[in-house]
Amino acid sequence: MKREGAVRVDLGERSYMVLVREGLFASGDWAAHLAPLAAPGESLAVVSDEQVWALHGRLFDQAVWGKAVFCMRPGEGSKTLEMLGKVYGAFAAAGLSRNGLVVTFGGGVPGDLGGFAAATWMRGVRFVQIPTTLLAMADSSVGGKTAVDIPEGKNLVGAFHQPAMVLCDPAFLKTLPEREYRSGMAEIIKTGAIARESLFLETGRPGPIRAETLESCIRFKAEVVAADEKEGGRRRILNFGHTFGHAIEAKYRFEKYTHGEAVAAGMLLAARFGERLGVTEKGTAARIRDVLAGQGLLIEESSAGLLDYMKLDKKTAAGGVNLVLLKRIGEPEIVPVGFAELENLMREI
Ligand SMILES: NC(=O)c1ccc[n+]([C@@H]2O[C@H](COP(=O)([O-])OP(=O)(O)OC[C@H]3O[C@@H](n4cnc5c(N)ncnc54)[C@H](O)[C@@H]3O)[C@@H](O)[C@H]2O)c1
Ligand SMILES: [Zn+2]
Repeated sequence: MKREGAVRVDLGERSYMVLVREGLFASGDWAAHLAPLAAPGESLAVVSDEQVWALHGRLFDQAVWGKAVFCMRPGEGSKTLEMLGKVYGAFAAAGLSRNGLVVTFGGGVPGDLGGFAAATWMRGVRFVQIPTTLLAMADSSVGGKTAVDIPEGKNLVGAFHQPAMVLCDPAFLKTLPEREYRSGMAEIIKTGAIARESLFLETGRPGPIRAETLESCIRFKAEVVAADEKEGGRRRILNFGHTFGHAIEAKYRFEKYTHGEAVAAGMLLAARFGERLGVTEKGTAARIRDVLAGQGLLIEESSAGLLDYMKLDKKTAAGGVNLVLLKRIGEPEIVPVGFAELENLMREI
């Protein structure tokens, strides 16, 4: 029998399970997991994208109850208020009631947008995440952050709405384009770097990611979310590499790098910066560099010009930033750094 990994996200009455099993969908077992979540006769609304649906949508033929399917154009460009309006229209046409069920099927884009639609439809309906990218499996499908973008910034309109279940089947990754796969790998390496030495080493293994490694990353995120659901404190450690990463993404107008590539470059800068500051154990940046290189993620971005974008970042405090730095692998720390100090040290990295 195939191993069935299960991670519980412990949030009181909003607790849920993340099932991780290679072959879960091909076996047809997944439909049995969904059935108890929708009352008989209630509608099921699937939110997906055209690419994912063309490749894997036939799996839903097994769903025994009436369903409506909404597919958006693939990519970040679909995470808009306009698209959200169309999803509400599809929910209305399907007669989705408060006892219905929304299923998001795809990467972080259908997941975030479909999740936000579920959070707001009739003041909240239950939803299930079925992630199909590595990024969505390891990161975005767990934790309840849902959002859309507006022209003023990414993820500015959103809600915390935890899924009722997450069904994660690494078999979907077989069709994922190489670059998208690597982008997800960056978040996996990030998780290893903030979680513990053994997981960090595991993320450096060559070859396709093992279900056990993925499950360990999900378990770590689940623990962090359970301790700090709304990111008042500890959950911020998940942003390791992201302050620099977001600045890199913005510098190139979100065109040159994927999110994961920018985060990879950002982790390296954060580690070098931490070493200069005397917070991070010497040699940590070199270790991160080696693991990134092994996964085809070595992106050497200089820190030149990034400060301006960091100042524009909406999460930035008045006179400086709260940076997630590592004391060493597995020991993240949030360190407030003033812009003047940041500017001085950034010249050196
Ligand atoms: N909610 C959170 O906590 C959280 C965390 C991290 C990122 N995010 C969000 O996630 C989004 C990025 O997610 P993403 O990288 O998954 O992007 P995505 O959903 O756009 O997917 C990337 C591409 O891969 C394709 N694809 C998906 N699954 C596939 C498969 N199995 N085979 C072939 N192609 C497939 C899609 O069609 C798309 O073209 C961003 O909007 C980001 O803000 C959210
Ligand atoms: Zn990220």
